[in-house]
Amino acid sequence: MSSDRKRVVVARRLPAAGLEVLRERFEVDEGTLDLDLDLLRSRVAGAAALVADPTVPVDVALLDAAGPDLRIVANFAVGYDNVDLAACRERGVSVTNTPDVLTNATAELTLALMLATARRLGEAERLLRAGRWTGWDPGALLGRELAHSTIGIVGLGRIGSRVAELLSGFGARLLYAAQRPRPALEVSLGLERRKLADLVGESDVVTLHVPLVADTRHLVNASLLERFRPGSILINTSRGGVVDTSALARALTAGPLGGAGLDVYEDEPRVPAELIELDNVVLLPHIGSATDRTRNAMAKLAADNVVAVLGGGAPLTSVT
Ligand code: GLV
Repeated sequence: MSSDRKRVVVARRLPAAGLEVLRERFEVDEGTLDLDLDLLRSRVAGAAALVADPTVPVDVALLDAAGPDLRIVANFAVGYDNVDLAACRERGVSVTNTPDVLTNATAELTLALMLATARRLGEAERLLRAGRWTGWDPGALLGRELAHSTIGIVGLGRIGSRVAELLSGFGARLLYAAQRPRPALEVSLGLERRKLADLVGESDVVTLHVPLVADTRHLVNASLLERFRPGSILINTSRGGVVDTSALARALTAGPLGGAGLDVYEDEPRVPAELIELDNVVLLPHIGSATDRTRNAMAKLAADNVVAVLGGGAPLTSVT
């Protein structure tokens, strides 16, 4: 490989559709799933591009280790709370993410988690596999139907809107809380806007679709949880930090929550034992965008951003 090719460091792994694009043009150093930050700091020295993912803290130490040749941090994710944007800006480093291509996969996973939690699928499957199913029982494992429920969508960006669209066929009443009103969606999907505190007080199911930023950290905290309807369900496929986990665990044991479906956690991959012990919680290992099609589209978009910026052009999906 010629040494005048620019060096692109993939912090961990990148699906083939992205790697192929990068390998055709650059010297690519792909890492492993085990993130070793000391090793990454030495690998990244002199790189022109870094492909990161939500598990990779792109902080001052990593940017300094990369040095002045670094032009772009391409995050292989739509969320970019792992990236110190101010530090990138100071160094003239572009930051990109992978919006749109994962909207549908994440919205479908949200629906799957919502149905699984409302119909107690985790609990039901555990019971069967443990050999504790004694036969059809008219009173066992009774759940909640989405039809006739009120569902509150917190955040009506790309993923929140797609969740609303998918839910519009279920016969549920749909509420949303968002910074800006979305009158066109209110009409086309039958959504009603509420303040967050009112939305949680009216909803049987609340689903979170906001990015993790300073204003949304622990948005769902003890005082908001007190306002949820008795027996209601919380779904989180956004970021773990949007929910105060200890307050959530208390609300699931002492009320008012009746259940939760979670794909994301505050300190991944650590999942608190207090949640694992609860039967009314469905727990997934951060698989919102995990389909072959979507992960390859995300990888391709991350790679296309690197190609654009290292070619002297504008990033395709800049986060700033
Ligand atoms: C995954 O969590 C993403 O932000 O794309």
